[in-house]
Amino acid sequence: MIHHVWVRGVPAWCEPLRLLGPGSWVLDGKNARADLTTFAAADLDARLRGIGIGGGAIEVTVDPPLSRPAVRAARTTDARRRRDTTPGFTRAGVRLDDEGRYSLTPEALALALGERAAGRVVVDAGCGAGGNSIGFARAGSRVVAIERDATRLAAARHNARLYGVEARIDFRQGDAVALLPKLAGDLLFVDPPWGAEWSRLGTALDDLPALGPLLAASARFPEVWAKLPPSFDVTGLPNARPEAWYGMAKGDERRVKFLLLRWRNTPLEG
Ligand SMILES: C[S@@+](CC[C@H](N)C(=O)[O-])C[C@H]1O[C@@H](n2cnc3c(N)ncnc32)[C@H](O)[C@@H]1O
Repeated sequence: MIHHVWVRGVPAWCEPLRLLGPGSWVLDGKNARADLTTFAAADLDARLRGIGIGGGAIEVTVDPPLSRPAVRAARTTDARRRRDTTPGFTRAGVRLDDEGRYSLTPEALALALGERAAGRVVVDAGCGAGGNSIGFARAGSRVVAIERDATRLAAARHNARLYGVEARIDFRQGDAVALLPKLAGDLLFVDPPWGAEWSRLGTALDDLPALGPLLAASARFPEVWAKLPPSFDVTGLPNARPEAWYGMAKGDERRVKFLLLRWRNTPLEG
C-alpha cells in the first residue's frame, strides 16, 4: 500500500533529506511530503516520533493511517537498530565515569569537529572525559581543557595519553566561568551538561543551567561553538548558525546526535 506522508517541523538547515531518508520528498519550508510504502512510512514514523529539532516538534501525518501491527513492527525494528550507534572512544583502556560516558561525543564526530577547527587554539569549557578535547588535539589544535570535576578531568588526561595527545592539551581543574576571563584562544568550545534525561522534544536555553554563565564569559573569544541537544530552541541564540550533526553507524545515521551552533564575537581589545 502507498501512503501520503507529511512531515512538519523540519528546519531547512538540518539536512532534511538525511533525516527523512529514501523517498521522493517535496520540501516546502519546514514541511516535507512524499508517497511511501507502508514499511517506509512506519519506519519514518517510528524514528521521528516524539522528537523535536531546533526547538520545534516534528509531526508526522500518514494517510491512510498505518495499521497497529505495522507501527508495532517498525518500533521494534527501530529499537533494535538503536543499539548500533557511533562509538564513543574506540581504544581499549579508556576511563569514563557515568556522566563522562553518557555525555561523551562519539569519537568520529569529535574528530570531524576537530578537523573543522583546523589547528586553531581551542578552549574547551567543560571537557568531561575528554571526547572533544582529544578530537581537537588529534586534528592538530592546541587545547585548554577545563573541567570542574577532578575525577573526570583525571580521566580526560588519562584518555588523552592513550590517544597520544596529552602534550597538546593543557588541563585545568576549576570553574570555567571563573577561568575564561583569564584565558585566550581562537575558539571557545562549549558542551554543557544536557542532563541524563534531556527532552527529545524541546530544550530551552534555561534548561541547560551551565550554558548561560559560560556564554556570558565568552566575549573575549573571537569565535564560539556550542554543542547542544538536537531539540535545542535555536531562537535562544539568534546570532548563531545552527548545524545538525548526524551519527555515522547504521542505528544513528539518520538521527541528529547534536546541534552545533557557531557564531563570531567582536574581539575585545586587551
Ligand atoms: C557534556 S559534558 C562534556 C563532554 C565532552 N564534550 C565529551 O565529549 O567528552 C559537560 C562537562 O562540563 C562540566 N562543566 C559544566 N559546567 C562547568 C563549569 N562551569 N566549569 C567547568 N566544568 C563544567 C561538567 O562537569 C561536565 O563534565
